[in-house]
Amino acid sequence: MHRKAAQRIPMTQSQSRPIVIFDTTLRDGEQSPGCSMNLEEKLEVAQALVDLGVDVMEAGFPIASPGDFEAVREIANTVRGTTICGLARCNEKDIDRAWEALKGAPDARIHVFLATSAIHREFKLKMSKDEIVQRAVDSVKRAKSYCDNIEFSPEDAARTEPDFLCQVVEAAIAAGATTVNIPDTVGYATPSHYGGVIKNLKNRVPNIDKAVISVHCHNDLGLAVANSLAAVENGAGQIECTINGIGERAGNCSLEEVVMAMRTRADYYHATTAIRTQRLVPTSRLLSNITGVQVQRNKAIVGRNAFAHEAGIHQDGMLKERTTYEIMRPEDVGFTQTDLVLGKHSGRAALADRAQALGYHLTGDHLQDVFDEFKKLADKKKEVYDADIAALIEKQMTVAEDQWQLVAYEVHAVGGGEPKVSIALQHAGKEVRKTVTGGDGPLDALFRAIEEITGTSVVVRDFRVHSVTRGQDAQGESTIEVEREGRVYRGRGVSTDTVEAATLAFINAVNRAAAGGGQPATGPRPDMV
Ligand code: KIV
Ligand code: ZN
Repeated sequence: MHRKAAQRIPMTQSQSRPIVIFDTTLRDGEQSPGCSMNLEEKLEVAQALVDLGVDVMEAGFPIASPGDFEAVREIANTVRGTTICGLARCNEKDIDRAWEALKGAPDARIHVFLATSAIHREFKLKMSKDEIVQRAVDSVKRAKSYCDNIEFSPEDAARTEPDFLCQVVEAAIAAGATTVNIPDTVGYATPSHYGGVIKNLKNRVPNIDKAVISVHCHNDLGLAVANSLAAVENGAGQIECTINGIGERAGNCSLEEVVMAMRTRADYYHATTAIRTQRLVPTSRLLSNITGVQVQRNKAIVGRNAFAHEAGIHQDGMLKERTTYEIMRPEDVGFTQTDLVLGKHSGRAALADRAQALGYHLTGDHLQDVFDEFKKLADKKKEVYDADIAALIEKQMTVAEDQWQLVAYEVHAVGGGEPKVSIALQHAGKEVRKTVTGGDGPLDALFRAIEEITGTSVVVRDFRVHSVTRGQDAQGESTIEVEREGRVYRGRGVSTDTVEAATLAFINAVNRAAAGGGQPATGPRPDMV
């Protein structure tokens, strides 16, 4: 059944292969703790991914929740310029639901997956090898009855017996899969092992040329990018990755790193992508601003220190010849010299223009609302930086969904004495006030008052405040994570007053907790079992 080892033909520099970039920020990325997004935020990210030039965008897992379904449907109906993909397990309900969400997209892909490794077969699925092959074939065929572009993933492929993996992949392609994705679901592979898995498929699956081989690597051992590159060396034609490497547990292969590795070492990989690399930093920042999850300073490509040369000997070398210590130019990945400053005399067009450069698309009422907030901020702060603008836009998006809104608050706390706070919130046009005395400081008192007014009690799991820009008049951004009934919700708030920022973040989190949904606080993802 399987073809024996074929010769690999060495490529010359001029024979560059195009690699499909499949972004799963909105699916695998969004499922990870702290990274959930609302519909408006997902649409913003989706548009930024189009601007970045991804070939395929996995917009979500439609059966997982009504929110996921709605997001995939909205993206499929409105986002253009890329293939929109939706995930489904290998069963009829999942596949039908995925198509229901995707059918508005001119270029849609259904991605079906089924675990194949012995561990998953025995303990999770309790299915035999033959049953797995049959289920995979039936599912690919069902998906194929809806659209031509079908991806099949044997989940935990990296730990699947090589012969069985060849068998499943061959059957899936024969049933109509146009892409076969080889996930390292648990991040167990190492580069030469994983490269070998891809090489084995290329050499032994007789119909492998009828499909694109894709790779999907998790980063549990910090090897997701290295493994993906090893796969490219061995013939993979698609890489699944996420912005900032967000994703399940330690994350997925980082899009910016894998793309820049292939670009910077084109001499070695002989591979090209359609990614507009100057959009990498804006897209990374957009995602951080939306999720509140910042990348570490020394993160390759997009971290704040990625191009900062501190050592004297390096600085000296750089001044003499940049390439002594720099293998990429900061401008190639979208770092700009100018953090353009706007002020109170700047107009709506300048704001919209700056927002667009940062990855946001502001129009109509949305632009007007942000502009109004911008004018208020410009009155308080001399200079409004890019990060301030991003924070304002995020604030608008966050507050828009909230049922309960902050009207006013007052804090009295003298020295180490008991705090006394009063707060007024508004819901459906009705204002409710509350005064609380005592507690562990003014924020604790404010949080208690908010819980009492809204009737929603939560446990704070994480709470942070950081300054958005430099200077004493900088805006403070607060992010907060709360737990309610075993589910986790995130909130954020921005203000030049840090107590107000924290209060807004808490109100946002409580609103989300009251609405329900959220991510499980512990245990396995419900959709994966
Ligand atoms: O990691 C994984 O195996 C997945 C599949 C659904 C492709 O995310
Ligand atoms: Zn995954």
